[in-house]
Order: sequence, then C-alpha cells, then structure tokens
Amino acid sequence: MPDDAVTMDKIVSLCKRRGIIFPASEIYGGIANTYDYGHYGVLLKRNVVDAWWQAMIGDRDDIVALDSAIIQHPRTWEASGHLAGFTDPLVDCRTCGQRFRADHLDAEHDVRCPRKPSVLPGQGPDCNLTEAREFNLMFETTIGPVQEAGSTVYLRPETAQGIFLDFKTVLGFARRKPPFGIAQVGKSFRNEITPGNFIFRTLEFEQMEMEYFVPPDDAHRWYLHWLQARMDWYERLGIRADHLRLRAHEQDELSHYSSATSDVEYLYPIGWQELEGIANRGNFDLTQHAEHSGEKLEYFDQQSGERYVPHVIEPAAGVGRATLALLCDAYDEDDLGGEARTVLKLHPQMAPVKVAVLPLVRKDGQPELAHEVRNLLRRRMQTEYDEGGSIGRRYRRQDEIGTPWCVTIDHQSLEDRTVTVRDRDTLTQDRVAIDTLPDVLAGKLEAPWTSPKLAA
Ligand code: GAP
Repeated sequence: MPDDAVTMDKIVSLCKRRGIIFPASEIYGGIANTYDYGHYGVLLKRNVVDAWWQAMIGDRDDIVALDSAIIQHPRTWEASGHLAGFTDPLVDCRTCGQRFRADHLDAEHDVRCPRKPSVLPGQGPDCNLTEAREFNLMFETTIGPVQEAGSTVYLRPETAQGIFLDFKTVLGFARRKPPFGIAQVGKSFRNEITPGNFIFRTLEFEQMEMEYFVPPDDAHRWYLHWLQARMDWYERLGIRADHLRLRAHEQDELSHYSSATSDVEYLYPIGWQELEGIANRGNFDLTQHAEHSGEKLEYFDQQSGERYVPHVIEPAAGVGRATLALLCDAYDEDDLGGEARTVLKLHPQMAPVKVAVLPLVRKDGQPELAHEVRNLLRRRMQTEYDEGGSIGRRYRRQDEIGTPWCVTIDHQSLEDRTVTVRDRDTLTQDRVAIDTLPDVLAGKLEAPWTSPKLAA
C-alpha cells in the first residue's frame, strides 16, 4: 500500500476546498459518480490532454487527429459486440433495494450493505440477494421528436468505435499507410453502478484513445512498442516510476476483441488500479464493421499488390484517471517552522498555474508594478495575480494548487526593478531582474524535473 501522506479523502477534500473538482448537481444533493471540474481542475486536465496530443501528433508524423460523433449509427454497437457483451453481472437486494456488482461482493472490493450491521452484501441477517443478471452499461436514448416512434441510439461507451467507422475516410485523406494511427479525445459514457472512488470511476469520462493500424505480422512488435511508449509518457508527466507498473491481463480477463492487453497501473491510495489499457485488438473491429456495413475496410498496398485488413494496437487512457494519479502523486504535507502545509508537488508543466504574482503590500505602487509583471508573463505561461491576505497565506494558497513559483514585488522592486522568485519545493527565494524574468521562468519550465517526493 502507499507509503506517503496521501489518502483519497484528503484528495477529495483538497479538490473541494480549492474548487478543483467537486460533486455535480450539488444543489440537488448530487448525482452518483458524477463530478464537475472548476477553474484549476480544468487547467490541470487541459495540461494532461495537451501532453497527450503532443506525444501523439506533436512528436510524431504517423498519427492523425479525429473528433467523431458521440451518437453513432446503432448498428455500430451490434458490430462492435457492445450490445451483446458490454455487461456487468448485477444482483439486487430484495430487502434494502440496493444494487451491487455480483463480482464485487468480496472483502477485496469492500462494498458494504447500507443497513446496520455494516457487512458485505449478502452477509447481513436480512440480506436477500437476487440471482445475478447481466446489465448492459450503455446509456440508451432516442432520436426523433416522439419517443415511441424514434429509434434507439446509444451514448458511446468508448471513443474507439468512431475511429474504426472513419478508417476508410481518414485513409483516403491522410495520405498515410500502415503503420499509422488515428487519435481522438472525447467523452464516453457508462452506466456504472459501482460506488466510485471519487473521479476514478464515473458515469461520463474523457478518454484519450489512439488506434494504431499495422500490417498483421508487425502487430506484436508494435504492441510492445506502445507498452513502453505509454509507460514513458506517464513518467514524463512527473509521476514516480515506483508508483507505476505494467500488468498483463490473464487469458480470462481479456475483452472479447483482444488477443493481448496490458494495463498501466498506478498505486492510488486505494491500491494498484488501471490508468490505461493497451490492447492488441487484431483485426476484430475492422472485420466486424466491414461485415455489418458491407464496406471494404482494408488497405491495398499499390507497390506490393498486397491487400489486407490491418491489425490494431490501441493505447486507451482516461483523462480523469491520469488527473487523479497526478493529484495523488503530487500531494504532500510538510511542516514550515511549526506550521503545517499542504502542497501539490506537481511537475511544473502540469501545474494549473505556473506563476503567481504577489505584491507584498497593497500600496506604495507595488500593485501597479505587480500588474506590469503579470502582463509581462501571461503570454508565456498561465499566471495569477493575488493581493488578498498576508504573504504567508497567499503562498499557502498557491502551494495547495501546486503553483511552482511565486513572484513577490516588494519595496526594493520599485527601486531596482528586481523581484523575488520563491520556489514551491525548495522554498528558496532568488532575486531576479524583471527584464529577465520571463526567460528565467521559461527556462525553469523546460528544465528536467523529478518529483521531490522521491528524495524525501
Ligand atoms: N477502447 C478501449 C477501452 O475503452 P477501457 O479499459 O474500458 O478500454 C480505457 O477504458 C480507459 O478509460 C481506462 O483505462 C480508464 O482510464 C478509462 N475509463 C474507463 N471506464 C471509466 C470510468 N467509468 N470512469 C473513468 N474512467 C474510465
């Protein structure tokens, strides 16, 4: 189990206190497993997504971007196997009316009966569980003005299928040949009934998925390539290597489409859990959609005269889970001269705000100079201006959202146009000339970084 100060309760409470992430529909008492992201949460999540796009299309030439529809033709889900097979086994309790996952009734999952005594479902004196029934996780809705006359459609449970449906179109436009990939980021929806662990498992969530189309004989090689590339990516976000691992699925765990899958797992406060799945999907999806649609979904190599259905390697990541891993990995508590501090030791490139500009006092021309400094920096990086409260309180506020540098304007700044730069992790304060400040901070932002929690 984890060895540092972080617990899920502390993350939930920090996120709520600082408006990073909080329960949705709160004025109506909330809605199960659904959360909203506030200002700092949006900035943090955007940094995760930007880093993913950078790795997929900024750093490579063999992947193109796509943004496909959430509601696709209903036959999509017949072909993909989701209509028949995307189910969880559920049981209902006839006494308390609660619904549980039949495969989560054991001590390991620690799901509790809502009645007293607090026991595992089925173990209380009044528990009366039904037989397990398969329950499809897709949300249904209807197209058309009248529900009865409309046709049933589904909110996508994964972004991947839109990529397969557009394979032929993209191949035509993108002037690429296998190996090449199509990447997309977007919301997916699953009717999860499991009590969630904060944003770990939610009803709607953003996925970052890439389908990499390869000649069949090269599939295993590319599978291994993506396992390594994705592990490296999480380390580049600053996540400690000893809190990351790859776990290969057992044969009986594999999804219906997969011949091999490994999960990138992170050591969350709730234990090792999946961050991302990397699957060798073979030619399952293209073959299924070709059969159901009547369209040929294959690649013709004009040079060799060879025609084949590409195999697919799929790294599929969750934005929420990566964001939660960053928060857990960065969370720390320390003691500053007798005063407790909560701090997010995030990689500076992931931090929602890179620099806060703080006038020491709200007079003597300091706020005016601070605004000038802020305007100098804001085009280069996300900045924030704060003049409310003591300087100590303002530092604490920035520490809690993970701001790596605080720039303080004091009386000396007005005399010699220098400021102090306070480092979130080392707590050092360096004097820097205002003219050079944007370049100094930009240099720090690009510098190699490892989590200070490693040294602790
Ligand atoms: N296209 C393959 C696919 O969707 P998955 O393992 O079911 O595979 C991929 O999902 C990733 O999406 C997961 O590793 C996880 O990060 C994220 N994810 C899946 N279900 C989720 C949920 N209910 N809430 C939050 N994230 C979820």
